[in-house]
Amino acid sequence: MRIYRAKDYHDMSRKAANIISAQVIMKPNCVLGLATGSSPIGAYKQLIEWYHKGDIDFSEVRTVNLDEYKGLSRDNDQSYYYFMHKNFFDAVNIPPESINIPNGMESDAAKECARYDEVIRSLGGIDLQLLGLGHNGHIGFNEPGEAFEKETHCVALTESTIEANKRFFEREEDVPRFAYTMGIRSIMQAHSILLVVSGQDKAEIVKRAFFGPVTPQVPASVLQLHNHVTLVGDEAALSLI
Ligand code: F6R
Repeated sequence: MRIYRAKDYHDMSRKAANIISAQVIMKPNCVLGLATGSSPIGAYKQLIEWYHKGDIDFSEVRTVNLDEYKGLSRDNDQSYYYFMHKNFFDAVNIPPESINIPNGMESDAAKECARYDEVIRSLGGIDLQLLGLGHNGHIGFNEPGEAFEKETHCVALTESTIEANKRFFEREEDVPRFAYTMGIRSIMQAHSILLVVSGQDKAEIVKRAFFGPVTPQVPASVLQLHNHVTLVGDEAALSLI
């Protein structure tokens, strides 16, 4: 694993954007696995800036997002579909048909999970998977559990995740309780992985995930078994390692 220590969130975002940009330059038709949340927003902003300057072209890029809340429609401003369009897709030239996000409005979970796995398979897998890290060690919405879940699946979100997400909703009751998420196998089969993490509140979980035992109780710890992981963190997040 390579660890890049960034000064702050801005520096972390620039470093991450550089790595994503290098991937797109080296393989213009690459498959990018993308994440939502606060951690990657700065990297998306930086990529948009470089796109507007003409330094990067996304016209051949294909994307697969990690996850989506079950039951939220695309136009719900808390859906990951909405988030991705607002923070990235609407500002760059990725063709809409090359964008893949689990369909939160599909109520048949088995059907949607099978469809999404087939989407990832038909794209030929993921070249670069961007990840954030949950306070409980989750990646995507792969929550701590007894075993690593391999396939795309529908998860009941843990109390800790509901707690972390409720800042985005008016009322706690509005926070979705279920989500579709890519499984650990698709993430682990990505050619390379880029995890971005910032803030003192993530320091403890960074230490457990990357220097503790590999266990489904800390889903991100499985990344220790991947050959090509790059962790870009700010000083605060990396302060315990
Ligand atoms: C988002 C996702 C989550 C987040 C994680 C960290 O698509 O899959 O695993 O990456 O919850 O969220 P932030 O970046 O908001 O701290």
